[in-house]
Order: sequence, then structure tokens, then C-alpha cells
Amino acid sequence: MRYRRREAGEGAVRLVMESTLSARDRVGVQDFLLLENYNSEAAFIENLRRRYREGLIYTYIGSVLVSVNPYRELEIYSKQNMERHRGVHFYEISPHIFALADNSYRALRTERRDQCILISGESGAGKTEASKKILQYYTHICPTRNNTHTIRERLLQSNPILEAFGNAKTLRNDNSSRFGKYMDIQFDYKGAPIGGHILNYLLEKSRVAHQNHGERNFHIFYQLLEGGEDSLLKRLGLEKTNPQHYHYLVKGNCPRVSAISDKNGWKVVRNALTIIGFNEDEIQELMEIVASVLHLGNTQFVEDEEGETQVTTEPQLRYLSQLLGVDGSILKEALTHKKIVAKGEEMISPFSLEQALSARDSLAKATYGCTFTWLVQKINQSLAFKDEVYYSSKCSSVIGLLDIYGFEVFQHNSFEQFCINYCNEKLQQLFIELTLKSDQEEYEAEGIVWERVEYFNNKIICDLVEEKHKGIIAILDEECLRPEDASDISFLEKLEDTLGTHAHFVTHKMANGKIRKAIGQEEFRLVHYAGEVNYNVSGFLEKNNDLLYRHLKEVMCRSENRIISQCFHVDELMDRRRPETAATQFKISLAKLMEILMSKEPAYIRCIKPNDAKQPGRFDEVLIRRQVKYLGLMENLRVRRAGFAYRRNYKVFLERYKSLCPDTWPNWHGKLSEGVATLVKHLNYKPEEYKLGRSKIFIHFPRTLFLTEDALEARKQTIAITLQTSWRGYSERAKYHRIRQAVIVIQSWWRGVKGRRKAQCRRQAANTIRKYECVCVCRFIKGFILRNEPRCLDNEYFLDHVRFSFLMKVKRNLPKSVLDKSWPRPPPSLTEASEHLHRICMHNLVNDYITKIQPEWKKQLEQKVLASAIFSGQKDCYPQSVPKLFVATRLETDEINLKILQTLGKDNKVKYGVDVIKYDRHGFRARVRQLLLTTSAAVLVQEAKIKQCIDYSALLGISVSSLSDGFFVLHIPTADSKQKGDLVLQCDHVIETVTKLAIMADKIHNINISQDRIRFAIARGKEGVIDFTCGSDLRVIKTKNGHLSVTTPRIS
Ligand SMILES: Nc1ncnc2c1ncn2[C@@H]1O[C@H](COP(=O)(O)OP(=O)(O)O)[C@@H](O)[C@H]1O
Ligand SMILES: [Mg+2]
Repeated sequence: MRYRRREAGEGAVRLVMESTLSARDRVGVQDFLLLENYNSEAAFIENLRRRYREGLIYTYIGSVLVSVNPYRELEIYSKQNMERHRGVHFYEISPHIFALADNSYRALRTERRDQCILISGESGAGKTEASKKILQYYTHICPTRNNTHTIRERLLQSNPILEAFGNAKTLRNDNSSRFGKYMDIQFDYKGAPIGGHILNYLLEKSRVAHQNHGERNFHIFYQLLEGGEDSLLKRLGLEKTNPQHYHYLVKGNCPRVSAISDKNGWKVVRNALTIIGFNEDEIQELMEIVASVLHLGNTQFVEDEEGETQVTTEPQLRYLSQLLGVDGSILKEALTHKKIVAKGEEMISPFSLEQALSARDSLAKATYGCTFTWLVQKINQSLAFKDEVYYSSKCSSVIGLLDIYGFEVFQHNSFEQFCINYCNEKLQQLFIELTLKSDQEEYEAEGIVWERVEYFNNKIICDLVEEKHKGIIAILDEECLRPEDASDISFLEKLEDTLGTHAHFVTHKMANGKIRKAIGQEEFRLVHYAGEVNYNVSGFLEKNNDLLYRHLKEVMCRSENRIISQCFHVDELMDRRRPETAATQFKISLAKLMEILMSKEPAYIRCIKPNDAKQPGRFDEVLIRRQVKYLGLMENLRVRRAGFAYRRNYKVFLERYKSLCPDTWPNWHGKLSEGVATLVKHLNYKPEEYKLGRSKIFIHFPRTLFLTEDALEARKQTIAITLQTSWRGYSERAKYHRIRQAVIVIQSWWRGVKGRRKAQCRRQAANTIRKYECVCVCRFIKGFILRNEPRCLDNEYFLDHVRFSFLMKVKRNLPKSVLDKSWPRPPPSLTEASEHLHRICMHNLVNDYITKIQPEWKKQLEQKVLASAIFSGQKDCYPQSVPKLFVATRLETDEINLKILQTLGKDNKVKYGVDVIKYDRHGFRARVRQLLLTTSAAVLVQEAKIKQCIDYSALLGISVSSLSDGFFVLHIPTADSKQKGDLVLQCDHVIETVTKLAIMADKIHNINISQDRIRFAIARGKEGVIDFTCGSDLRVIKTKNGHLSVTTPRIS
């Protein structure tokens, strides 16, 4: 629901109020409570007149809406106007029926209390129009649920149907409701209309057969004749144009009314029937009944010579039998004879002409009456809220709309007026109960200081009509039941006997003087709260009995028309008990209605009719004064002025508004009254605005409450956010716990499953082991004992097992490279096999390694192998040389003198060159030289000079020391005259140089490694010596004895 945002504070409200009202709105006072002279009826009427003149038809008395029929279309009911009233408080806007409707709706939504709107006023005062406006308002402003579109349409469309069948033109109103109607509109918790229910009261059936002058029968007859399609009318045996042809339509001599378009009416009804959900067959059958009533009216009788009554209109009879689906001859007999059951025997006795006419009329009335009831039931089915669960959960609330006949005074008042006026007495009584009386009693009970207002309590009149045994209805029923000759007159006499002294009852006989003249002989007068009414007793008994001859009932029970067959039940025929009389039924249904209304929060609309001529702008003061009086408006005003607009139980009040005060929110733990006092103090209520009773708070002005409501509305936002946050937190926590719980369940379940599976495997394995255990264990043990014996049956299992285990172990632990010497230890029985396997494995690894070796690398390895063969374990510096790769040469071509290369020639290519130090054979002087190894000789070079060239073939051998020095001596034959003697050289790469030289000169086996001394030839027959010793560092000196002494550091 949309609420306008308003600043709190009375001033602000007044400002809004003032600004929304135009000057015209402020004619007179909008609320009679503001009338200065509130005790003056003249002032009251003057205010009404002033406003009426300006077309302002609505005025408040507090929360009661007074409405004066404008008798013209006003521009105040448009959709924009409805929007303007949505969610707006009473006092903010000029008085309007929409404001009242909105107020009830808002109370329904905020307080979740059922509401009812009681519309009262005399015939033609605008009650039905008011109820329609309210319905239109609700169907427009309320929110919609999925299917509520249909419900809205149906709620709206129920009106034209019920009006067509239940309304008629009367002298007072062209569209007078001839039945009472109470309609519940059901709303869901979001405030969307979701269903409805209608209760109907006492249809004025007598109108079917008779209308007063200037009045008409029910609209539907004229609508069917005017608007019905030709084919339909033909089927129903009706003639289109002229209602004058039908006896039941001519009694009032008023077939047409200018203000009513029957043709249009027919279209509206036809459409409404479809929307409500009547199918074509049902509409057809409904019209057959309407037509048959007209045919009944035209059914005529004569008395023949024998005094028997005969039907003279055969065609009508034929149509009747066809339309009602009954046997023509049986119907004919039932219309002219009555069936009497006496002592278990049925007897037929003919009707007099008068009786036949009366039987015919009662059949027409009964048929029409029960069809109307059927129609209401059918509409109720269509409006019923289908979702039972929803309904039973009490989420829905209702607003009831009561549009019931107003107080009626005619020239000639009969049973119907008696009932109608009795109904109005009851409603007045309810009004008194709910407002005047209960208000005052409540103030007293609550200890509120209060100025008593005198009012007339009409209970005395209600009792006069309805009291058991002594009331008018009881006496009427008694007369109806009396087996002897009871008549309307005897009823009147009985009334006189019993009620003669009652202050509100008088008859012609009992009255005197002036009054006697005003009362007819067959009349009794009731002094109603609204005025005096004379009732003519003629027809009272018959109407109260409301009996249909048994014979006719039997015929109707057999009807093939489905509506009729649903209305007339065979079991009713069997039931010998007398049905309740019309007045008693009415009394009972009114009592129920009062109960319904009492259970709801009431709102009142008091309708006033400004003139009898249905003319706009005419303000008939006499007429209005009478209505103001009987509607009790002055009393109403006085009570309201003295009283309080709003009262609430402390608990309810505190519960609703406690959030507006920090001291009472979220809970008040002290006494309720103190809580409310704290709350209103916080809300700044002024002392004149409220009073605190024993159990309730009383608030004088609606405005005070509305402001409080506004504050609550604003506060709700904050509360909603707090609630949302807590709720989200709560729901997330709950969700987390649920998930966690689920996880735990799944986990434990899964663990269980896994555990069970494992246990099952183990069990299975254990079983298998157990099964083979004995056999296996025995064989195994025996095999172990005999493991060293030759293979035999007894140990083969064990040996196989051992072999298998070893092979598997070998497989898992094979050496990864040629250098990997690891190998699993074999069991004794497999030592040999293991060696074989190890060898094969190494072989494979080596093979594999070899195939992957490059040619250079191969050459390198060959040289290294050779070096190893020569020096390994022989010379101290050998181990250091192992990781250092041998290079192709230590001197690049550009480092050797070109001349040398040219001298050596192409055939003698330098393969290896290295820098050396040459020691003179005499004196041991050290000189830097190059040693070049060619394909055929070792050449010692000093720059461009070849100092010595030793053919490999001439080389005798090579000597080196066992120490870590770089000395080596090339031995040459001394006989060779070309040579100067052995060559003493020192080189940093002694292992590499010597190895290369040995390979090239093919002197591998001629290498001599001396421990401490090398002897060499200086010249023929002359010898030199080199002594090698270990020392701290390298030292080469010539000793005194002519030796060369070489001290070399020891390699650790
Ligand atoms: N608010 C209104 N605006 C215009 N015309 C109205 C209004 N109320 C009543 N009338 C006129 O008065 C006539 C009688 O009103 P209705 O509601 O049928 O009276 P009631 O139900 O009280 O007998 C309506 O047919 C309509 O012409
Ligand atoms: Mg009406």
C-alpha cells in the first residue's frame, strides 16, 4: 500500500490538509464535529444544505460518512480520484466515500481485523450506488495476485445480475433493491481481493404477481423482452416488443421508464452472466424460468357450468410444460385442483376460480423466489476462494458491505414493509449497541469522566416485533398455525389483545381522536424509532405462510429444468414438518446478520434522500429533517463530540506502537498502563487528546492516531532492516549448520562404507589364507629346511619362491650405469646365477655405453687407457692428470714458426706441439723450446731453428721419474754422429706429452720410470745424471758433483 510521506507534527498535517482543499471544499464544515452549535438540528441541516448546493454530497460525523443523493452524475468517482484517496488519511482530503473505503481497507491491513461497512438510509437514498462505488474502489486500488483479475471482474459483475433479478422501479427509486444484500469481500494478507460471498435477505416476491401503480416488476422481465434475440424469444414463446401483453407486467401500468434502458440492461446482464461463469445451458434454463413466470401470468381460468375451474389458455400451458419440462396435463390439473392428504389418503379437490388464480400466483412467486436464491448460490460458487489451505491458515480478512433496504413508509404498507422496517430497527439497534450504548458503558467501565448523552434506545421496538411468544412475529406465526379459521383480521385482534398497552403499538380500535382517524380499520400502527407506520394486515397470513400447494410442489419436483429441480426437493415433500414461516426465517437470518456484523469493526455510511422527485439540486427540508432524525445523526454527533474517536486495549496499543519509544521497545516489562503512559508521553500527546482508562486508552481525535500511525510507518522501515539482517544471519547460520550436519552424516556414512569394504576384503583374505594356510605353511617350512638340498618335490616350492623373490628384487634394483657396482645379495642357491646375471647386465650396460661413444671421445679414452697402463701407480702426478682431458695439440699452427713448418714439409706434418724447457747436457742451462711431434720424428725447435730432430726409429726409449716433476729424457743411440746426445726436457703436461710421443713413436714398451735417478748420455761414452728427491717445492739445481738435482713437492 502506498502511503504518502508526511512530516510528523500537527502543524504540518494541517498545512497539508489545508493545501489540498480548495475554497469550494471548505463550504460549511466538512465534519459535523466542528460545528459550533452541535446541538442544533437546524445548524446541522443548514450545513448539509450549504454543502449540497455546492455539489458536496459527503460530510463526516467523526468517522461516520453522511451522504446526500445528488441525483446527478458527479465527476468525483474517476480513476484519478481513486488514486488520490489511496493511502490518504480521512482528515487530509475533503470527505469522500473512497476515503472511508480506504480507511477500512487500511485498518484491515494494518490491524488484520475484519471490517464491515454498513450503509443505511431510506429507499432511493443511494445505498446501492454507494456499495457499488466502494466495490469499484477496492477492485481498482488493491494489489493483484495472479488470478485476482477474474475475481475482481466477477465481484463487479455480480451486481448487474443481482440487480436485474432483484431490483425494480418503485415510486421512490427507479432501481430499488427489492432484497437485502450483505457481501463479504475477502482479501489475502497482501491486501489483494481473492474472493467474495453474498448473503441475500427476503426478496420481495409479491412484486412478481403484483405491482403498485407506477411501479414495475423486476428488471429482468423487461430486459429479456426488449433485448432478447429473436430466436431466443421465439423459443421461449415470448413476443418482443410489448410488455403490455403480459399480465404480470401491467399491474403498475408502467412498462417503460425513461431513465432505464432495458435493451442495454439485457446486454450488460448477458455479459455479466458469462463472466460469472454461467454456461449457455444454464443461461437458457434461467431464461426459460423467467419466460415461464410471464406465461404463468398469462394463464387464465374460467368457471364452467358445473362450477369447476378450467384453464382457458392452452398455448400458455403448452409453453409452460415445455419451458419447465413438466407434463402439461399434470400441471394443468395441479393449477386447478388441490391435493389433500388426510389419514394417509390422497384426495383431489377442485379449486375455485379465486383459489386457482392464487395458486398460479404463488407458483410464479415461489419459482421466481427460489431461482433468485439459486442465482445467489451460483454467484457465490463463482466468487468462492478456491485455495482452501490459504483460507484455513487465516491469512485472509474480509470487508463486509451491507446494502439493505432502508426504512419504508408508503400509503399502503404490508407485510414486506413490516419486515423491512423491522430490519431497520435491528440495524439501528446494532448501531446503538456498537456506538452510543457501548461507548457510554465503556466510558463508565473504564472510569473515564464523561458527560452522558441521552438517546432513544429502540430495543423496546425490536422486542415488540421479535420477542418470543409476545412479539408480533410470534403472534403472526401462532395465527398461521392455528387450525381453526384464522384470518388477517383475527391476527389483528390477537395483536390488540396481547400488545394493546404497548407504547409503540396502536390500532384503530384502541386509538382515540385524531390518531384513530389516521389508522384504518384493518391497520395497526407501529411507532418506529424513525416514525409512525400504519400496516395493513391484509395478506399478512398468506405472505407469512408462504406456502405453495403440495400438488404444485410435486409437479415442480419432477421438472426437467435443472435449476427448478435443484430448487424443489422431493424430500421436502416427504417432510411433514411445517417449514419456518417467512417472518421467522427473516428474524433468524437477521439475528445471524447481527452476529456477523458484531464480529467486525464497523464503518457507517448514512445515506440521505434530498427529495422524493429524484431531482438534482432539490433540498426538501422536511424530508431531510425526518431522515436526520431517524438515522439518529444528532445523537450520533453528540456522542462523538463528547466521546473518543479511538480506543484500544493497553496491550494491543502498546504492542502496535511500542517501537516508537525507546523505553517500550522491544519489550515493556512493567504494568501495561504505565507502558502506555510512557509511550504517549514520548509521543507528545497533549492532555486533551487522550484519556487513560482502566484497561484502555481513549483518543479523542482521529488526527492524533493518524499521526501516530505515520510515525509507525516511518519506523517500520528501520525495523524491517533490522529484522532482515537478523533473519538473513539466522537463516545463513541455519543453512551452514544444515550443510555441516549433512557433511558429517555423509562423512561418517562414507567412512562406514569404506571401513566395511576394507573389513570385508580383510575377512575374505583371511578366509583364503585360512583355507590354504595349512597346506602352504607346511610346504614352506619343509622347503626352508631342505633349501640347500638338490631340487626335489619337498623344496621346489620354497626354492621357486626364493628364486622368484630374488629375481623380482634384481628387477627392482638393476644398476643404472656402468659405474654403478651395486647388486642385490643373492641367496646361496643362486650365487652363480646372480654372477651371470650381473655380468650380462654389466655387459649390456657397457655395450650400451660403447655404442653411444663418439670417435673423438674414443680416441681420448684410448690415449687415457694407454696413459693409465704406463703411469698408473708409477708416477706421482698421474692421478691429477686423469680428469684433465688430453688435447689434440698445445700449440696452434700460428704459434709455430712458418719456416719450421715449411722445412718439415707436407709429409712431415706436426701432429702435436708443446712448449718445453730444454736443459743443456753440459751445465744444465734451461732453455725455452717447442717440442713438435710429427708423423715421423720429434723435433725440438727454437723459433725458426730446428735444434734437434729425432726420428722415431732412432728413439731408444723415454725416461721419467716416479715423482711429480715434469722431467723426461729422450734416449738416442750414442753411436749416431748426427745426434748430440740424449735430450733432457721439462714440460707442464708430462703425462700427455709422453703418452702421445710413446703412441706416435710406438715406444709404449720403452718407457722407463725411475725411482730417484735418471742416467743419460751426454756424448759418446760420457754420462749425465739427474737426481730426483722430494721436497717442499720445485727446485732444479746443478750440484757440485755435476748432477742435476730436482726437488719436487710431494703430492698428498
Ligand atoms: N453518488 C451518486 N451519484 C449519482 N447518482 C446517485 C448517487 N447515489 C444515488 N444516485 C441516484 O439515486 C438512485 C437511487 O440510488 P440507489 O443507490 O439505488 O438507492 P437505494 O439503494 O438507497 O435505494 C440511483 O439510481 C442514482 O440515479
Ligand atoms: Mg438499493
